Amino acid sequence: MSLRNTRAKWGWPTKLLHWVMAVLMIGLALVGTWMANFVNDMVLQFQVTQHHKSFGVVVFGLAILRVLWRLLNPVSPAHAAGRSAWERRAASMAHGALYALMFVMPLSGWLMASASALNDPGAYPMQVKNMVFGLFELPDPISPGDESLEAIFHTVHAWSSYLLAVVLLLHIGGALKHHFRDRDDTLRRMLP
Ligand code: HEM
Ligand code: HEM
Repeated sequence: MSLRNTRAKWGWPTKLLHWVMAVLMIGLALVGTWMANFVNDMVLQFQVTQHHKSFGVVVFGLAILRVLWRLLNPVSPAHAAGRSAWERRAASMAHGALYALMFVMPLSGWLMASASALNDPGAYPMQVKNMVFGLFELPDPISPGDESLEAIFHTVHAWSSYLLAVVLLLHIGGALKHHFRDRDDTLRRMLP
């Protein structure tokens, strides 16, 4: 198990970050869609949303680590032989979009939650603080709440999740195509 990425394979920190973040982001997108649109019990919805926010902050922290690690390891495994220019460009664009979404999703979620009237001490005596696993409070740049800003960040958050779904379908489809049709080691070298 190598630490650093080489031209032949990914180092273990890259693999670990890739798979931990993949589980978290796919989980957050599924749970987020469910809690926001299909849960009628307000208490349950509230509790799930608090956990959604906490795990979303974890994604943000890991995204910073991941980009720093990537910058320290500019080498990455070579593209599989025989891939056309458009395939390489499509893969790079999908990776760029996924890197952007690792930041846009948590940031829009945080700003939406900050702008929410629920987080406004003036409007709600029972002000809901945005706590991360009950350990510390998220900074609240939009205080008091602002419903129009909340709506804007909600739109960004929801539409980014649709984009995430589309890009992920291409990304996962690409990985499976490499594995089963081209029979190269693109997927295998990202596995433990
Ligand atoms: C079941 C789900 C997934 C599979 C099978 C998968 C598979 C892969 C594979 C095989 C690679 C290596 C590509 C190469 O060697 O050129 C890769 C890279 C990458 N994956 Fe995934 N992935 C999945 C989920 C995700 C998710 C949810 C994200 C969202 C953040 C993501 C982000 C990335 C990025 C950014 C890279 C490029 C790494 C780099 O070049 O720095 N993947 N993925
Ligand atoms: C990778 C990270 C994240 C992903 C993939 C994600 C995904 C989602 C999705 C798909 C929804 C449903 C949107 C809808 O249909 O209305 C949602 C809702 C929500 N998210 Fe996130 N989220 C992430 C991070 C965060 C963070 C960090 C926060 C706040 C600190 C947050 C706060 C919220 C809130 C408050 C809602 C409920 C919105 C409503 O009531 O309609 N999210 N999220």
